[in-house]
Amino acid sequence: MIDIKILQEAFRSHYSGEGALFSAPGRINLIGEHTDYNGGFVFPGAIDRGITAMIRPNATGKVNLYAVDLHQTCSFDINDAEGPSSTHFRYVYGVVRELTATGIEVKGFDAVYGGDVPLGAGMSSSAALECCFAFALNVLFGGQLDRMALARIGQATEHKYVGVKCGIMDQFASMHGQEGKLMRLDCRSGEYRYFPWHPDGYRLVLVNSCVKHELVGSPYNDRRASCERVAQMAGVETLRDCTWEKLEALKPLLNDEDYRRARYVLGEVDRVMAVSNALERDDYETVGQQMYLTHDGLSRDYEVSCPELDFLVDEARRLGVTGARIMGGGFGGCTINLVKDNLCDHFLKEVQQTYRTKFSIDCKPIPVVIGDGAKQH
Ligand code: GLA
Repeated sequence: MIDIKILQEAFRSHYSGEGALFSAPGRINLIGEHTDYNGGFVFPGAIDRGITAMIRPNATGKVNLYAVDLHQTCSFDINDAEGPSSTHFRYVYGVVRELTATGIEVKGFDAVYGGDVPLGAGMSSSAALECCFAFALNVLFGGQLDRMALARIGQATEHKYVGVKCGIMDQFASMHGQEGKLMRLDCRSGEYRYFPWHPDGYRLVLVNSCVKHELVGSPYNDRRASCERVAQMAGVETLRDCTWEKLEALKPLLNDEDYRRARYVLGEVDRVMAVSNALERDDYETVGQQMYLTHDGLSRDYEVSCPELDFLVDEARRLGVTGARIMGGGFGGCTINLVKDNLCDHFLKEVQQTYRTKFSIDCKPIPVVIGDGAKQH
């Protein structure tokens, strides 16, 4: 998390005095990718990186923001029907509007914020931003929304103000995370369960490909649209309720692309269950195998990979890593790797070298530390 002194100084120089401090994290996801908007399971955990904000109501109708990392300011009126044009500030604007729509009397405030989740890395920097402000404004303006309702405020912000028809995983994880624990969320019922994460002899490490492809825009929404088309033809609400038999029976009626998207989703729902069963018996080899299968599906059937990510996963395979795959929405960002302790240094050194040779880009290893969800400091 960002050094609080930086926020205190920025607050003093932009406004004066101090405000209250809040933070919300990014997330990792062990398995269950693109299953959330299909009513399936996801297996995320919050991380020790996120957005921290210092905020103080200003008794006006104006919101004043300063994003420390971007060195950018933005102001908007609380009743402004359009909002800022910069995507970055629209996350905060959307949260303000959505909270207001629930009946909370959000008033003007001054805020500075910054963080340490790399942007576009598939670690949910945008959910961290939404959740930090949703949590904070709910506290500061006397809202009574619970964490799930606040997560939905973040999701609605993506849908309505940014244009990404995302699922609930990222905001759920940012709100509900607990140190040292992963969570299995059933996105159909909203039920979730915590799984202590202490994989003796193994580590989770992300490798940031450092190539970014924005989720904003069509590729993500196109995947979702394919899934919804197949679900509709199968007569089910979401693909979670589509059986393999039904999908195969529909195959002649589907275009090849939609069929492959659905085949990936059905497989992924099964894989999350296989992983949670394997975790009950500390069987990390099975977890790893399922991660590779997810990557293959995301790359070939769901087509959200890119040469850089495929290369990172192929290298993980070659070097004996237990499991590796794209993490998050795809189109760039990180791979998540389950690696034996004693192999980790060698793997990271080797993959950094071969990646640089192949793409002339430096990839960045990021150790995973499972942290807490949104909170006031
Ligand atoms: C993005 C979205 C999530 C989820 C993942 C893919 O992170 O915000 O809702 O769909 O992609 O699993």
